[in-house]
Amino acid sequence: MRGEHEAGAWYGIGGWSNRLIASRRFQKWAAKNFLTRRMVRREGAALFDLLAGFCHSQILMALVQFDIFNLLLKGPKTLEELAEICRVPPDRMAILLRAAVALKLLRSQRGERFALSKTSAALLGVPGLSDMIRHHDVLYRDLRDPAAFFRGDTQTELADFWPYVFGGEMEPQTAKTYSDLMARSQELVAEDTLRSLDLSTVDTLLDVGGGSGAFLKQVGQAHPHVKLMLFDLEQVAPTAAPRFAAAGMDDRAQIACGSFKTDLIPKGADSISLIRVLYDHTDETVTMLLAKCWDSLPVGGRLFISEPMSGGARPEPAGDVYFALYTLAMRTGKTRSIQEISSLCRQAGFEVTKTPKPARPFVTRCLEAHKLAPL
Ligand SMILES: C[S@@+](CC[C@H](N)C(=O)[O-])C[C@H]1O[C@@H](n2cnc3c(N)ncnc32)[C@H](O)[C@@H]1O
Repeated sequence: MRGEHEAGAWYGIGGWSNRLIASRRFQKWAAKNFLTRRMVRREGAALFDLLAGFCHSQILMALVQFDIFNLLLKGPKTLEELAEICRVPPDRMAILLRAAVALKLLRSQRGERFALSKTSAALLGVPGLSDMIRHHDVLYRDLRDPAAFFRGDTQTELADFWPYVFGGEMEPQTAKTYSDLMARSQELVAEDTLRSLDLSTVDTLLDVGGGSGAFLKQVGQAHPHVKLMLFDLEQVAPTAAPRFAAAGMDDRAQIACGSFKTDLIPKGADSISLIRVLYDHTDETVTMLLAKCWDSLPVGGRLFISEPMSGGARPEPAGDVYFALYTLAMRTGKTRSIQEISSLCRQAGFEVTKTPKPARPFVTRCLEAHKLAPL
């Protein structure tokens, strides 16, 4: 009897064996048969999209690098106008623009004038997305040789973009580069986090790894009674002061500098948030960080975690492809499933009370836990 795990002998939907589906004869027959040909075409197209995906990403990158979406925000332009502004030979620009139309990133008016599509207009409305796309040149280089990347033989560059992962010396300018990128992409994360978790009964919230204060600012605006505390590295935390001042929040916001690897987490808050922090770090660091959060909170105090997560037993494209590869390139981090994070929280002495269904898993997913009394 063939076992389920025997190569090529796994029985899939419809009872066809994968070995049969993989045969050329079957493929030819299925492509002609009127019952199966639509499915064959659909699967073929999906497969082709996968193999061409890296070209799609580079078309998007080129459009962002040439700033074409912003140029078209003012109105449609001709091929010649775009070629001149971007200093690209017209025949090559024609190829880029046609590719962009094919990918529905642009619309073409009779092939003469080019305009934003709904997708590219929406892209411009997402804070920080163009910057996020631009910084993918680093990840793209890291993934150049995927076999070496997965074997762990690539000296990835992305780790240098986030120098805190190895805890070495860091220039303030480096900290500013990554903090600005984080702050610009924080708006959507805060939006989904505050929709998923109820912070209305928090008295004082300490945002650990709070960057330049973008999340706390949104909390402060949504809940004007909440007192705010931010903890981050000494090169980063002070950059939150101007943000709090500009938002008129400096009288209820405190900033503390330190490293959760070497220092204690300040006390005084009844709740702690960890927004896009855990996935940067090893299980060892996360275990230590959660233990320090437990020490800092009063019994019953709440812990809010928000970050993109793995789908666990049901892998999903954002957490298990994009963020999984991104954190792997950072070398110390990984995406964890809600079950894995819950388990780390329980080990640290928390009871997990809420794991709401994410609105947009590619933006974030949340968890709420309460500090249990010591045994
Ligand atoms: C991916 S960023 C997220 C920033 C912010 N929470 C957000 O979502 O926009 C991770 C943050 O953790 C901070 N961080 C990293 N290691 C740290 C450490 N050992 N102690 C304190 N903060 C740290 C970084 O400086 C950075 O601000």
